[in-house]
Formats: sequence, C-alpha cells, structure tokens
Amino acid sequence: MFSTAVKPKPFVKWAGGKRQIAHILIENMPTHYNKYIEPFIGGGALFFELLPEKAIINDINKELINAYIVIKNSPEELIKSLKKHKNEKEYYYKIRALDPEKLNPIERASRFIFLNKTCFNGLYRENSKGQFNVPFGRYKKPKILDEENIKAVSNFLNSIELQIFNTDYREVIKLAKRGDLVYLDPPYHPSSQTANFTKYTKYDFSEKDQIELAENFKQLDKKGCYVILTNSDTPLIRELYRNYNITPIITNRAINSKAHRRKNTATELVIKNY
Ligand SMILES: C[S@@+](CC[C@H](N)C(=O)[O-])C[C@H]1O[C@@H](n2cnc3c(N)ncnc32)[C@H](O)[C@@H]1O
Repeated sequence: MFSTAVKPKPFVKWAGGKRQIAHILIENMPTHYNKYIEPFIGGGALFFELLPEKAIINDINKELINAYIVIKNSPEELIKSLKKHKNEKEYYYKIRALDPEKLNPIERASRFIFLNKTCFNGLYRENSKGQFNVPFGRYKKPKILDEENIKAVSNFLNSIELQIFNTDYREVIKLAKRGDLVYLDPPYHPSSQTANFTKYTKYDFSEKDQIELAENFKQLDKKGCYVILTNSDTPLIRELYRNYNITPIITNRAINSKAHRRKNTATELVIKNY
C-alpha cells in the first residue's frame, strides 16, 4: 500500500475540481472494487483522495496529461525547471506565447503548471485554435513550485499499477471490466447558456455528448461495473439518469465568469448505478 509522509493533492487548480466534495464522493464509493477508472481526470481531486492501488486515468487535455507523465517520470527535472519562473506580467505573456508542441516534455509541463498558478482565476481555457488564452492573474505570491507535493504525487503515481491516457473518454471506458469502478466527471451540462464553464479545450462537450455519455453509463452498468457520475442539476441530466440512484448535493461553484457570482451555491448531482 502507498505510504509517504505527505499526502498528494491536485498539482493544478482545475475548473470543476472536486476537492470540496471529495469526502461526499468517498462516502458514496463501493467498499470493494477492482480497478479505479477516471476518464475525465482533470486535477484528480478524488483520485488523490482515494489513492487507489490500480487505476486508469485519462483526459483529453494534452498539456494536463503531459504534466502527469512528467511528474511521474521526471519530478526532479520538473522541479528544477519550475524554479526558473517569475511571477511577472511580461514574462507571463512570453511564456504563454510559446508553442507547447515545440517544447520538450519537461519544459512543456513546467510552462503548463506556471501558467496555471499565475493566470487569472487559475483556469485552463483554449481558443478555437487550441491556444491557451487566459490573461495574467496579478497574484501577489502564487505558489508556482510546491516541491513537496510534486514529490508526493510522483511517489504515489509510481507506487501503483497505473495507465495514463490522453484520448477521448469513449476509448478509455472500453477498458472497463466487471467489478471495476468508473468515476465520470464530465464538463457540466450548463444550467443556462452562459452560467457555467464547460469549455476546457478546443473540444466542446455538447448536449449531444451528455446524451451519449448517459448511454455509455448504461453500457458500463450492463457490463457489471460500479459507475458513479457527477454533473450539474438540470432537467436534462435528471431525465437521462432517471433509472439510477440520484443524490443532490450543494456546492460552491468555484469558477464563474462573473466575479460577484463566484461564491454562489449550486446543486450538483451524484449519480450511481449501485
Ligand atoms: C469537470 S472536469 C474534471 C474535474 C476533476 N474531477 C477534478 O477534480 O479536477 C472535466 C474534464 O474533462 C475533460 N474532457 C472534456 N472532454 C473530454 C472528452 N471527450 N474525453 C476526455 N476528457 C474530456 C476536460 O479536459 C476536463 O479536464
């Protein structure tokens, strides 16, 4: 079993991150399961809370998955590179303008973590060309390097049986077998046209995708997997999962385009097939 003095935690701030409700999700986990599969890993709040011994993690975001792989394989080099950054506006825009495809994986992960820690609101957003386009955040003392946590995450990722993918979630759920636990945390179904942040990358998650995801939930259920999903409380989501176990929970939505609404509470749904 995994053990280290420091418990790992998400190494980036992520829109829709589940740290706040991780304890509620943990209470909703089955007591026994085989592999833990998280096809929309994001910052991995639940993954780092649960610390499973066998896991598959995935996200469509290339920068994010590269960072997981670099932390796993080259934590020392990454730490060295993160030490070089400066929390200055001009420097920020210089780093933002770099084409990540042209960087080596370590510089690429370092750029990604630096931008995440110093950008406005700490959110990852790309334009239609797939370029990160968030302005400088003007934070006084952002923690660009959390050395202890990078080491803790690296130790953990190396201590378990782990597969990491950077693909569409549909590819990853094909790997799920009877007895595995699949946690689905897709981009939210927006409760109004503009209210919620759902665009993480140039790939949008549309209403059609939500409907298809519910179909895939059903297939995983039929296969004999434990399936747990979180999404916003909207009529569509309630309708799509009406045959399953739905529990509403109240959360503070962290990311909202309007600053004064940032602390508003919202209801989310925890949906389970068990
Ligand atoms: C709500 S977030 C997950 C947040 C995560 N649970 C956490 O605690 O940080 C949804 C994630 O799905 C990813 N995503 C969007 N479309 C996807 C797709 N088709 N396949 C896989 N991942 C996708 C996004 O990049 C984003 O990281």
